[in-house]
Amino acid sequence: MTGDDPLRATAVENLTELDAHVELKNLADEIAEHDRRYHRDDDPAIADAEYDALRQRNTAIEQRFPHLERPDSPSKSVGATVAQGFRKVTHAVPMLSLGNAFEDEDVQEFLTRIRRFLSLDEDEPVEIVAEPKIDGLSVSLRYEKGKFVRGATRGDGTTGEDITANLRTLDGVPKEISGEVPDVLEVRGEVYMRKDDFAALNQRQQENGAKVFANPRNAAAGSLRQLDTAVTAARPLSLFAYAWGEISAPLAETHAGFIERLKGWGFPVNPETRLCASIEEILEHYTRINEGRAGLPYDIDGMVYKVNRLDWQERLGFVSRAPRWAIAHKFPAEKVQTMLKAISIQVGRTGSLTPVADLEPVTVGGVVVSRATLHNEDEIARKDVRVGDTVIVQRAGDVIPQVVETIMDKRPADSRPYVFPETCPECDSHAVREEGEAARRCTGGLICPAQAVERLKHFVSRNAFDIEGLGGKHIEAFWTDGLIKTPADIFRLDGHREAIAEREGWGGKSADNLVAALDDKKTIPLDRFIYALGIRQIGTATARLLAKQYGSLGGWMEAMDQAQDRESESYQDLTNIDGIGPSMAEDLLAFFEEPHNRDVLADLAALLTVEDFVAPDTGSSPVAGKTVVFTGTLETMSRGEAKARAEALGAKVAGSVSKKTDYVVAGPGAGSKAKKAEELGVTTLSEEDWLALVGQA
Ligand code: IVH
Repeated sequence: MTGDDPLRATAVENLTELDAHVELKNLADEIAEHDRRYHRDDDPAIADAEYDALRQRNTAIEQRFPHLERPDSPSKSVGATVAQGFRKVTHAVPMLSLGNAFEDEDVQEFLTRIRRFLSLDEDEPVEIVAEPKIDGLSVSLRYEKGKFVRGATRGDGTTGEDITANLRTLDGVPKEISGEVPDVLEVRGEVYMRKDDFAALNQRQQENGAKVFANPRNAAAGSLRQLDTAVTAARPLSLFAYAWGEISAPLAETHAGFIERLKGWGFPVNPETRLCASIEEILEHYTRINEGRAGLPYDIDGMVYKVNRLDWQERLGFVSRAPRWAIAHKFPAEKVQTMLKAISIQVGRTGSLTPVADLEPVTVGGVVVSRATLHNEDEIARKDVRVGDTVIVQRAGDVIPQVVETIMDKRPADSRPYVFPETCPECDSHAVREEGEAARRCTGGLICPAQAVERLKHFVSRNAFDIEGLGGKHIEAFWTDGLIKTPADIFRLDGHREAIAEREGWGGKSADNLVAALDDKKTIPLDRFIYALGIRQIGTATARLLAKQYGSLGGWMEAMDQAQDRESESYQDLTNIDGIGPSMAEDLLAFFEEPHNRDVLADLAALLTVEDFVAPDTGSSPVAGKTVVFTGTLETMSRGEAKARAEALGAKVAGSVSKKTDYVVAGPGAGSKAKKAEELGVTTLSEEDWLALVGQA
């Protein structure tokens, strides 16, 4: 989404209030979707770092515009929403997350904050328990009078899913605990899958043609949240216990004491847990675990430090979603070397070309990696990555591995710099790159197979051709079966009437209805037609502006041809349309420049009747058809209102003055535009004159 969306590319400090409003809505929707994919479907679509960036952007916008914070803001929730199918469980004590430390200094600050908060003397020691941060999913296990009665996922931190039956199948979950046990005891911990179990499971999945998991964490999550308990039972899941929720009696005086009790009750606890008396000891333990990390039988992504004294934990309490008494110290991303065999180009649904490294398969963080992203053209050039290079690949618990750098010493003597293709590997159309954009983009939108289905769906969508009975699903099916390739093929579907009638879910009547609906839409207003083409940045409003400006399909096509010359008057006219900026103009012209698109247009023009734009009835308006430019400060109305009123009277409102301008309405403070009007001999009116002219004085 990032590369396509001008709003997303705008820095937070440059957003207008309206932008921010729209962007917060977009972010809330996107983050919720990613949360669903990650937590509920175990099928994340973006890397963790990208996800974090979305959340950070959301927070930054909310900080700038606190009054715009939405009720469903992602900053209000910890993670997933509850999946359908499991009963909801409200956690008596919320399940929170942890703040992050990346550098040693962050750990030092964490300790300083604690000392300050508790007003400790300088020589008072603060003991810390350091334990590995397990990369799995957290669960809460509830015991009543020593019996395991309910197990739940974290969910959004407040409400999780009841997965009691599934958790019962884990060996690590005691079904009954004895000895001195509080009447109510909630033990919290991490369910994970061992690396060897993960490898074996994936092997089995592959052999059975079933879903192969990207990493042990996803495998654990997918296995635990099965509606069929038998499936969970067959999956090798493990547990480490490390915290508690609701309890009816105190458990210990220290975290270390609590861990001992857990052990006594039979819960698995992590053997790498250490009680540390100083920051040196903490960091030493951190380094030791990090260095031996690849040899651990399970994935970890950092260490968790917890204040040992529970009375201090109590006093320290929480800030928003995380405790003050604990922090996660993340490990740097795991990196390995491997050979880059080839660079291939992937074409996204919006036409963006993404370079992908085909690698000699290598294990990074317990996952075999054979492809990694190279991001874009500039990144390849910056790192000077070449085919045949030995490269460093990193995967930071992320879903998408990346090529970090190339090792120059190992470069073959005959290597050549990589040349980024200027045509689309899918359809051979030109791939262009606009100023300020990272991605090169295929311009063959209408014929490029990588983009075709999306384009065709757009073509028949509600604001475009809106063909009754022909929805996105049908388009996909017809495309897959080769009935349609280009937009014009849609109007040739009548030739496939018999075949369609025989398709599942169709029948003769539906096929006839479709043929009639297609016939009905063979005549279409110009603005709808323009919008249907799915040209980048050309939405319904812009399509209307173009239709209004150029009047007819022929007029528009001719003007676009002439405007290819950036010095021409046609180009001037195009960028003069109020609401069309240079970037939109470039997208329009790139579309017309691509021969494949012109073929499609010609094909459509031969099949359809595109109606000329009909200006709304403006009666005897004296300014109908006239081009007006407003400049300077208007006194009786805002610029926006002036524009709307003028348009309602049939005038065209332009952003700059040219020979074609009929009137310049100049308020106080009018500068260069008024001057230009004078030079060109264009009639200049005061606001009062204008109101008198249009009879609104
Ligand atoms: S303590 C109130 N200890 O990390 C704090 N969490 O980023 C409770 N995690 O949601 C968490 N290993 O899923 C704690 N040794 C450990 C952990 C651990 C993994 C996970 C847990 C938590 C997340 C926070």
